[in-house]
Amino acid sequence: MINNVYDDEVPEVVTIKETIIETPTVKTFIFPYKITEDIHPGQFVMVWDFNNEKPMTISVIDKQNNLMGITVRKAGPFTNNLYDNVDVGDKLGIRGPYGHGYNLKKYEKILAIGGGSGIASLAPLTSFYDNVELISAASTEEELVFVERFRNSNIKVHECTDDGTKGFKGFSTQLTEQLLKTSHYDIIVGCGPEIMSYKLYELSIKYNTDCQLALDRYMKCGIGICGQCCMDDAGYRVCVEGPVFDKEQLKQLSEFGKYRRDASGSIVKY
Ligand SMILES: Cc1cc2nc3c(=O)[nH]c(=O)nc-3n(C[C@H](O)[C@H](O)[C@H](O)COP(=O)(O)OP(=O)(O)OC[C@H]3O[C@@H](n4cnc5c(N)ncnc54)[C@H](O)[C@@H]3O)c2cc1C
Ligand code: FES
Repeated sequence: MINNVYDDEVPEVVTIKETIIETPTVKTFIFPYKITEDIHPGQFVMVWDFNNEKPMTISVIDKQNNLMGITVRKAGPFTNNLYDNVDVGDKLGIRGPYGHGYNLKKYEKILAIGGGSGIASLAPLTSFYDNVELISAASTEEELVFVERFRNSNIKVHECTDDGTKGFKGFSTQLTEQLLKTSHYDIIVGCGPEIMSYKLYELSIKYNTDCQLALDRYMKCGIGICGQCCMDDAGYRVCVEGPVFDKEQLKQLSEFGKYRRDASGSIVKY
């Protein structure tokens, strides 16, 4: 028999136990999955709908009940299908978790900033750390995700909307700067559109604080083989060395904030 080194990478078929409509475009799927000590906030899984396979951050890590969750924003064929057609009792293929998550043990005061579906990557921090302050940002009030979940957590949450319908009016980066001016944070962590992440990186330099940011690049294998998600110049694979990068790594990524590559490998400028 051939010893296949990638046996572990065969998707596990799970049955959806619960779904939560978070907003008109965002839905959470919760399913049984063995939650080991090795699963950390910021990691991702590859999700298979038996037609296509796409990367999704792990948005729920429930150690007690061995439950995992993903939170999907409608963006195209795959995510629209999940939102519109997949519900309790339906099945999905899951492989992972993959990549490096946030590493925050040494920090005393943490400011986390999540924009759009990026908040999915940061939400599990609320059950791992109690020294996190969180900015939850969206374009408008009805697109704020996990409002109830954050209300029931022990952490301080600042809501922020572009149009001012809820919380701070303006961009999450403006609120971040306001907080950095008045309080000291040992680290800022963030996940969201890359324009936002790049601005957070600049703020971390300006205010001399550490930072860890989750980046996304087009992924195919999710396990470091195909090279699709490599970032110039350092060549870090977002699926293996990332998706969370620290300040030293970010410094080495010349394409960060400037361009990404589409499925064919062609450069798409921000
Ligand atoms: C590490 C990581 C974690 C992610 N976590 C989440 C999450 O928690 N929730 C969420 O809603 N989305 C997440 N995404 C993005 C998600 O994978 C894409 O939105 C999804 O693949 C879009 O597929 P589609 O067919 O719906 O849309 P399409 O029309 O195919 O694409 C819409 C957008 O998604 C991007 N995209 C498409 N396919 C991929 C792919 N294979 N890899 C990366 N980006 C792709 C496209 O470049 C485009 O910008 C994550 C991406 C990465 C890399
Ligand atoms: S997706 Fe294949 S190397 Fe990262």
